[in-house]
Amino acid sequence: MVDTRTKSNPLWSIIRSTARNVNRRQFLGALGVGSAVALMPRGEMSADAAFFPGLSPIREASTEPVDGKFTLPPLPYGYDALEPNIDTETMTLHHGKHHNTYVTNLNAAIAPYTDLKTQSLAMMLANIGSVPDAIRTMVRNNGGGHMNHSIFWATMGPNAGGAPVGDLGAAINATFGSFDAFKAQFVAAGAGIFGSGWVWLVVNSSKKLQIVTMPNQDSPYMMGLVPIVGNDVWEHAYYLKHRNVRANYLNIWWNTVNWESVALRYASAMK
Ligand SMILES: [Fe+2]
Repeated sequence: MVDTRTKSNPLWSIIRSTARNVNRRQFLGALGVGSAVALMPRGEMSADAAFFPGLSPIREASTEPVDGKFTLPPLPYGYDALEPNIDTETMTLHHGKHHNTYVTNLNAAIAPYTDLKTQSLAMMLANIGSVPDAIRTMVRNNGGGHMNHSIFWATMGPNAGGAPVGDLGAAINATFGSFDAFKAQFVAAGAGIFGSGWVWLVVNSSKKLQIVTMPNQDSPYMMGLVPIVGNDVWEHAYYLKHRNVRANYLNIWWNTVNWESVALRYASAMK
């Protein structure tokens, strides 16, 4: 497990170096936009190779701008669909208010910048150092928020939970020892985040699975990592039901994870 907030962590310098290298690269021009599909064909990802060697960022439809704007993705299930694990009021506010605000603020920030309005959000975040100073923090916070929540909704669902199978299940077992060991490390990482942030399962540049934590709304894409599934540990994600007991939320959240969706993301990242 890597806590990317802890600069004393020996891996921090590696990650920081990777981020610098990514940020030094030039933007590679406009990428495919306007697709209605969540996972775009491999052929449209050729420019991604320079940012994510050997990996493919996963194109959520809502994180590709259409007519210069990003959109709030519709929740793929009802606001009450994740009961009793995540309550209806939390889902309503989380998607309709919190996420929607990130989208609104992101669109407002990039509105004067023609080049950014045709950029995939994954690439914009991967190259955050090239975003104009005047809006970099806005894009980091709100673009990251839009990306993170778009993944979050897509990887949960009703009648979900269980355990991953196939290549993803095998990779989790090989990396962490077992699914239970993976879950324990993931929960411990999420519980250990100071303040607001996310805990993620990502694929790194060595095509290996890794658990990372990110502060605030920072995206794993900013570190050259491809997020597969993550949990939001901002208090707005759990406080109405679980109050201050974040660990309860982290443990019950497994019941909502749609492993079929996560497996598709893993396969796409590994292409
Ligand atoms: Fe959130």
